[in-house]
This record gives sequence, structure tokens and C-alpha cells, in this order.
Amino acid sequence: MKIAVLPGDGIGPEVTQEALRVLDALQLPGLKLLEGDVGAAGYRNHGHPLPPETLAMAREADAVLFGAVGDPACDNLDRHLRPEQAVLGLRKELDLFANLRPAKGFDGLEELSALRPEIAREIDLVIVRELTGDIYFGEKARHVLLDGRREGWDRMAYAEDEVRRIAHVAFRTAQTRGNRVTSVDKANVLETSRLWREVVEEVAVEYLDVALEHMYVDNAAMQLVKAPGAFDVVLTSNLFGDILSDQASMCVGSIGLLASASLGERQTAYGTFGLYEPIHGSAPDIAGQGKANPMATILSAAMMLRHSFGLEAEAARIENAVASALKDGVRGVDLGGTLGCAAIGEAVCERL
Ligand code: NAD
Ligand code: IPM
Ligand code: MN
Repeated sequence: MKIAVLPGDGIGPEVTQEALRVLDALQLPGLKLLEGDVGAAGYRNHGHPLPPETLAMAREADAVLFGAVGDPACDNLDRHLRPEQAVLGLRKELDLFANLRPAKGFDGLEELSALRPEIAREIDLVIVRELTGDIYFGEKARHVLLDGRREGWDRMAYAEDEVRRIAHVAFRTAQTRGNRVTSVDKANVLETSRLWREVVEEVAVEYLDVALEHMYVDNAAMQLVKAPGAFDVVLTSNLFGDILSDQASMCVGSIGLLASASLGERQTAYGTFGLYEPIHGSAPDIAGQGKANPMATILSAAMMLRHSFGLEAEAARIENAVASALKDGVRGVDLGGTLGCAAIGEAVCERL
């Protein structure tokens, strides 16, 4: 079971180390870890945020465990050299079109949610975010207009097959949960969203046991803080899913708690090939200070065991250990506590 470990930048290496510590504590036989450079680290050591050797390593592995990329020192590089291109490139090259971002409350954290406790307690949803299309991957350009003004543009587009395959993922996910899909779009304005809605309706016919509703993204952003418990599966596009998932993290309590799985169709000998990463970034403001909460990355490793290695029991063990650490009052700086990254990793290991 080969895992390509790509720690990246900022707090990426710190949180990845704790996830590895948790995997190590499980003593899984047959696990082989390979490590590669990505992001600013890739650029500095190899001249590219996604060096070819790292991409090859990821392709050869059965799963990728990813930290975070991004470095303010690289913000002015050409777009294709920016650290963020590493994660975008991996998603696209490996055809990881389905991004699952679960957001579920933890016992004992209700008071730390940005919402009132009785509202926070209800949250148990999964965002199914399309990950290889939309305005992220459309053509981009800069022009100087005839009158001398600078103009920038990004093409937003979805082809029907792209919508269809992510819709299937959402409906199938709903069948394992509460049998409800909320498809989030902006069909009152955007043509991409009108097509999105049409195709989602077509797919829904194959899932008569799943209730489908459509919601505009502005309303969804509002409903997510008004009554997050009303959502089960949120099916949405790349850009909207990016934004709504950061928002969902604060309904739970911290961005340092939300994990993700990015999946495609490729099967390995053990399960579905995937890339696993926290939803947060490299957090340059706290990098190198040992202040990051590694729980999102630890929970991403749990998702990896579940989806890519079929190790459901071990995945649940990790999730229970994180939940019981939080219940016992284990709090990082992000949750108003004082524990550092390594201490949180240690607390989770103790509870395994
Ligand atoms: P961010 O998620 O890195 O940080 C936002 C805020 O949340 C910061 O205050 C940070 O300190 C805090 N935070 C994030 N993760 C935390 C954790 N585990 N524990 C405690 N606090 C945490 O978002 P940003 O500041 O907008 O972006 C920073 C860089 O990361 C940018 O270069 C951005 O492009 C990149 N980024 C990368 C990824 C990724 O690798 N998948 C995701 C998001 C952002
Ligand atoms: C995320 C991040 C990425 C995204 C960036 C780093 C490209 O914000 O994974 O949520 O926008 O998808
Ligand atoms: Mn994001």
C-alpha cells in the first residue's frame, strides 16, 4: 500500500507529520511511504511547484496524502509557477473530479462554533464539490483594452459529462446517508448553472429514493449559518464548493478540523485512488510556530484508509480518537486552547 506523502509549505509539513504519527501508531502492515516536494518547496528545489518526479510518484502510489501549498514569497510569480498550481495540477492530472468535504459537529465543541450551540449541534453534511472544471480550469487571460484599461478574464464553463459524473457521486453519497441532495448553483444568472441544474435533474431520475432540491449559492451561504442541520449532501461546483466549505468549517468550530478526499474513477488493488488533504491552506501567519491544528490532516488520513485502502475499522478508530480528544478538552490555539501541533497529535495517538 503505497502512499505518496506531499507535505508542501507553511504548516503543511507540521500537520502532515502528525498524520504520519497517527498512521504509524496504527502499525498497519504493508504500508510504504514515499515523500515528494510540492508547492514552494517544489519550486525552490526543482524549479516547478509540481515537479515531474512528484507527479510520477503520485501516479504510482495507491493514495496521496497532501499537506498544504502556498507561500507569500511566491505570490508574484507567474501563475503557472505559483505553489497552488501543485494541488490544481495533481487534481487535474490524476482526474480527481470528486471532492468530498464532510462537516459534522463534535461533542463538546458546540460552544466554540461561530453559531449558537443549539444550531451548531445539528450540522452533519458533506459537500460534494466538483474539482476539475469550472472557472478554475477555464482559459484565463490579461488584455489591455483599446482605451488603455487593463482587463483580466477567466472562462467559466461546464460540459454536461462533467456535471453528470459529479452528480452521480452526490446521489450515491446521499444513499449512504440521509437520502437528500441540495444542488447549489447560480442558475438565476449563470448559463453554466442553468446547464448544471438541467443535468442534475436528468441524473436525479436514476435515484428516486433521493430527494433533490436546488438552491442558489447566495441563499445556501445564508442557510448554512441559519440552519446547517437542514443539509445532507451539498452538490456544487468547484468555486462555490471552495467557498462554502471554509464557511462550513466555522459552523463546526475551526478550519483546522475539516478533512477532504479527492477521488476519481481509478481503482487500485486496495480501493479507489485518491488524494487526501485538509481543506485549509498553508497558514503562513502561524507557520513554523507549532500552532497549527493537525486534526484536519489526521482526519484526512482516516478518509484515505476508508476510501483508498478499504480499512473502515481503522478509519473509524482515528475518527473516534479525534472525537474523544475534543470531548476531553484537547484544544489547539484555533479553538481557544494552548496545545501545539505535536501535543494534539500525541493526544490523538494516546486515544487510539
Ligand atoms: P489558510 O487556510 O491557509 O488560513 C486561513 C486562516 O486559518 C489563517 O488565519 C490560518 O492561520 C488559519 N488556519 C488554517 N489552518 C489552520 C490550522 N490547521 N490550525 C489553525 N489555524 C489554521 O488560508 P489563506 O490564509 O487564505 O491562504 C494561505 C495560503 O494557503 C495561500 O497561499 C493559499 O493559496 C493557500 N491555500 C492552499 C490550500 C491547499 O493547499 N489545498 C488551501 C487553501 C489555501
Ligand atoms: C482548497 C484551496 C485550493 C482551491 C487552492 C489552494 C487552489 O483553497 O483546496 O480549498 O481553491 O481549491
Ligand atoms: Mn479553499
